[in-house]
Amino acid sequence: MTANGFPDRFSFGVATAAIQIEGASDTRGESIWDTFCRLPGRVAGGHTPAVACDHLHRYEEDLDLMASLGVDAYRFSISWPRVLPMGHGAPNRSGLDFYKRLVDGLHARGIEPVATLYHWDLPQALEDAGGWPARDTAERFAEYASLMFEELGGGVRRWITHNEPWVTAFLGHAYGTKAPGRRDWREALRVAHHALLSHGLAVRAFRQILAPPASIGITLDFTPARPLTGSPGDREAAERWDLFRNRWFLDAVVRGAYPSELLAWYESCLGPLELGGKEDLEVISEPIDFLGCNYYSRAVVYGDPQARPLGLAHAVPEVPTTGMGWEVAPDSLFDLLLRIKREYGDIPILITENGSAYDDPVPTNGVVEDPERLAYLRDHLEAVGRAAASGVNVQGYFAWSLLDNFEWEHGYDKRFGIIYVDYETQRRITKQSGLWYRDFIVQSRNGSP
Ligand code: FCB
Repeated sequence: MTANGFPDRFSFGVATAAIQIEGASDTRGESIWDTFCRLPGRVAGGHTPAVACDHLHRYEEDLDLMASLGVDAYRFSISWPRVLPMGHGAPNRSGLDFYKRLVDGLHARGIEPVATLYHWDLPQALEDAGGWPARDTAERFAEYASLMFEELGGGVRRWITHNEPWVTAFLGHAYGTKAPGRRDWREALRVAHHALLSHGLAVRAFRQILAPPASIGITLDFTPARPLTGSPGDREAAERWDLFRNRWFLDAVVRGAYPSELLAWYESCLGPLELGGKEDLEVISEPIDFLGCNYYSRAVVYGDPQARPLGLAHAVPEVPTTGMGWEVAPDSLFDLLLRIKREYGDIPILITENGSAYDDPVPTNGVVEDPERLAYLRDHLEAVGRAAASGVNVQGYFAWSLLDNFEWEHGYDKRFGIIYVDYETQRRITKQSGLWYRDFIVQSRNGSP
């Protein structure tokens, strides 16, 4: 055990995603996010990821910053359109070389690279060919994954297939708030299925190409629900939210089945769904080595028969919220981790994202005071430590995010970084929360800050 109660060899890390930080969009293929940003009114301020944190050119500085925080591991994502501009076919050597240099730079600083293959930036060429609603995209993903296992397998041990397929499917294709911005629930369910299928195909490819200690998992996002009142309608709404938001993907991956209650509900609202057969679910439930959990908040829901197709709505939060309006609820993270163990078995878990956006004050004398983010980080780490002490096999925690970055439809308006980025000058300043995290990591190793 570490001095502050975490298991030995626990990884304290930071996380980012390619299109949120890299910039240099002229040196990669087009992504669905480039296209989405051109749609009027979809992204705050008309912001685009074209420059972002200019990480592609400044990665050495960013690696030094990570080293100054003393993190054990860095979770980054690979931009599919950077390595395969058309989504398949001839790779872009300079794109592959960038990730190789990044991985080498991490090892040189004693930081473990953890690579995510898909963090929402589908090559536009594949979108034009049908996108995730087309089954072919799952095959293309497995080919891209195989290329990356071959090219980076020597330096990367832990691999993550998808980041939050719920977002790819439902925010991208049902609610339309993220790229490609469509609003069709039947399509979204097909997308969810194909994203999961692509995950399973990639896991199969991984087993052919890499051997232990290399390991692979998927990152799912969890938002536990609480009913607004004890009424049967609200309780059912919370149950349905849980099936929709938390269990649909986890059941498919771990148990090899979609929850039948929600499948029946969807079919009663949307008509028959063709979500592959038994063979697809066998691929999807190919055993994984760990589960990545992203956790930010919980939801309070109530029954609302008018709200189709789920029949529920969100109550206004009564507890403190972050700058995203998300409830600050560290105990829900503790409960979630215990529940996963209880209901899904003793699978190794990485907290692959957790963090908060707040309106940071402008830096004063090189200092960024962010007490709320610091408290969020501290209280959620405490919850993770408590879960570990209660027997959950949690092996790592990755703060979201290393840097302020392009926060999707919110553009640069929402800052999640533990390092501040001045987008005018690209100057970075470690926030007070980042300095606290650094001390916390030192303390876990040495017993004192
Ligand atoms: C997660 C995403 C990540 C970031 C955080 C705030 O859903 O994976 O890229 O946007 O939310």
